[in-house]
Amino acid sequence: MAWYKVFKEGAIKDGDLFKATVEGKEVLVMKDGGNYFATSCYCTHEDYDLSEGFLDDHQLICPNHFATFNPKDGSVVSPPEGSGDISPLKSYKTKVEDGQVMVEV
Ligand code: FES
Repeated sequence: MAWYKVFKEGAIKDGDLFKATVEGKEVLVMKDGGNYFATSCYCTHEDYDLSEGFLDDHQLICPNHFATFNPKDGSVVSPPEGSGDISPLKSYKTKVEDGQVMVEV
């Protein structure tokens, strides 16, 4: 594991999602409530690209069938209706250092 810069602090606004490629992995970085969070980028239901999703009331929503995840740890808040359980997203640590938002991958 190592820390990688993804963008300058302030490059995204609260509620925004950003797909970063770090060490060949696509990572979803988001800002919510002034904090940065990072998870895997693809929905564990049917692999939809979550950078096309949105944040609502501190939850990450997949727009395909509306699975809902917690941005803080990638846990499933609610699976799509009728789908049964789905796996959580992978969660990555973030930090801000010298004005750069960084992700540990
Ligand atoms: S692909 Fe995300 S909810 Fe179905």
